[in-house]
Amino acid sequence: MERRVVKVGLLGLGTVGSGVVKMLRTKQEELAQKCGYEIEIQRILVRDLDKKRGVDVERSLLTRDVRDILDDPEVQIVIEVMGGESGTRDIVLESLLSGKHVITANKDLVALHGAQLHNAADSKNVELLYEAAVAGAIPIVRVLKQSFAADQVREVMGIVNGTTNFILSKMTQENASYEDALREAQALGYAEADPHADVSGLDAARKMAILASISMRQAVPLADVQLQGIEGVTQEDIAEAKALGLVIKLIGRARREGDAIEVSVSPMRLPDSHPLAQVNDCFNAVYVYADALGEAMLYGRGAGEMPTASAVVGDLLAVLRGRKFAAQQQVEWIGRLA
Ligand SMILES: NC(=O)c1ccc[n+]([C@@H]2O[C@H](COP(=O)([O-])OP(=O)(O)OC[C@H]3O[C@@H](n4cnc5c(N)ncnc54)[C@H](OP(=O)(O)O)[C@@H]3O)[C@@H](O)[C@H]2O)c1
Repeated sequence: MERRVVKVGLLGLGTVGSGVVKMLRTKQEELAQKCGYEIEIQRILVRDLDKKRGVDVERSLLTRDVRDILDDPEVQIVIEVMGGESGTRDIVLESLLSGKHVITANKDLVALHGAQLHNAADSKNVELLYEAAVAGAIPIVRVLKQSFAADQVREVMGIVNGTTNFILSKMTQENASYEDALREAQALGYAEADPHADVSGLDAARKMAILASISMRQAVPLADVQLQGIEGVTQEDIAEAKALGLVIKLIGRARREGDAIEVSVSPMRLPDSHPLAQVNDCFNAVYVYADALGEAMLYGRGAGEMPTASAVVGDLLAVLRGRKFAAQQQVEWIGRLA
């Protein structure tokens, strides 16, 4: 049977975008067999056309003009891996309102504008998926949305920022000072030159606002997340905790308190027997307590080119196998017959 081609617009060709291109190329046939479509990248939005890339792409695919993607009726799915907040929100919003499905890895975008984007997606019966936005490759978003649909989640606890977990692991396991551990994280590329968003807990707070909204099925604004970072954690704090059989971790926590939902990010002392206490280096993990299920934990890489690309491409397959995409195809097919 002849396979249909689906055309994708890619916004961004940095770390994650390059991983997505590599994965779509190396797994082309396997993906086509799984979803019944040949996936073709139609255009790629970048800032600098001449920059050396982590993956070879034909120059004619690159554009600096987002209209080449937004105004192209052949592009049915937009993958947003460029980052940014309000400007990116406008692009994603326009994509959804013009009937394009959107996949994004952008936690800032979803934490700040998720409700508005979901409304737009619902109004056009298109998908908005963002598995890669929280805990990279760990499939926590889909699990919380779908696998827990019949259960009631009471509490979610997570190590959702790899940079701070790396720093605290170095301080705990190698007695490094905060400053030395941060320098090492920067040298290894785990921390930015300006590490504020990570060490202040803001990055984790954005991810927790998303996880809390999904798991508690109620929009939790970022402003409601109580926030404390790891800048104040000293080697003395770590040693004192160790002497008591405790481990300090930056923990994101969302829980129901009566009708209210409390969400926080702060350094917490966990018993070293707690599963989250064993999560080290830049690994992430999310621990869920639900009425029927009891306890479960998902563990894995929270960032990186291929782990994150795998979550993005997983969302792409979910769109292509989903009923909204199928319904759209049917409408187009009937339209062609009419
Ligand atoms: N890196 C990870 O491991 C990871 C993990 C989970 C989620 N994420 C999220 O994924 C997104 C992308 O991250 P990344 O690490 O891949 O970023 P990155 O390496 O900085 O790449 C960003 C890409 O977007 C392009 N871009 C940015 N702003 C643009 C603009 N205004 N117009 C046109 N092109 C623009 C850049 O173009 P040029 O190349 O021409 O500069 C670049 O190709 C972010 O939202 C991030 O939070 C990343």
